[in-house]
Amino acid sequence: MRTLLFAANWKMHTGPRAAREFIAAYRLDRPTDGPHQVAFFPPAVSIEAVAQALTDRPAIGVGVQNVHWEPKGAYTGAVSVPLAAEAGATMALIGHSERRHVFGETEEQGARKLRAVVEAGLTPVLCVGELLEERERGETEAVVLRQLHAALAGLESAQLGSLVVAYEPVWAIGTGRNATPEDAAAVHAVLRTALRELGAPETRILYGGSVNAGNVASLLARDEVDGVLVGGASLDPAAWAAIVARGDTIH
Ligand code: PGA
Repeated sequence: MRTLLFAANWKMHTGPRAAREFIAAYRLDRPTDGPHQVAFFPPAVSIEAVAQALTDRPAIGVGVQNVHWEPKGAYTGAVSVPLAAEAGATMALIGHSERRHVFGETEEQGARKLRAVVEAGLTPVLCVGELLEERERGETEAVVLRQLHAALAGLESAQLGSLVVAYEPVWAIGTGRNATPEDAAAVHAVLRTALRELGAPETRILYGGSVNAGNVASLLARDEVDGVLVGGASLDPAAWAAIVARGDTIH
């Protein structure tokens, strides 16, 4: 049986109080863990609130949305991996498309972040995905493979044991236009081949981009899709619980 990962990316929503209320409401809907794994990526200020609200549910992951690669120092506004871990994070998103395209994060910076996350023993969730114009030019495979190899450069396969990759086509994020299960599966297969060659054949590959309770089952029906990374539809506890519940009958 596959263990899928349902990851909620709250982006710049949900402060500590709202986060506590969210988890309390979610727990009413999902009082016990289902067959698959769930993880929340709150804003950094809410990590501790989420982690504390879930101390008796250790199977549920808590992650940070972005990190700096240095452990500490004069980096105003930044959050390091050890700081996030102290707040309760055990996972970290790396290279989300908004980091790349809104904040201008480079592939080299992403690689440094990924290394810092791996060396600290947290689970990295590396996001890759093409722009619409790249897809239209037929460059999707080349783009995601370039992003994958750039992020993992210099790491040994032994360091990639906990790695998760999320394929998130930029044109599908927050647009209501998700990739078809076939399109997602095709890109996942390309990533899978590359990960096998890199010595990380077990890496879970998530799909992200306008996932909701209505389309998640058809995406997860594909063997190539090992879970989902959900933004907008993860901001409401009942909507999120409904998405997670779709996994209960998938084995
Ligand atoms: P979305 O965002 O579900 O709102 O499209 C997904 C993501 O950015 O991770």
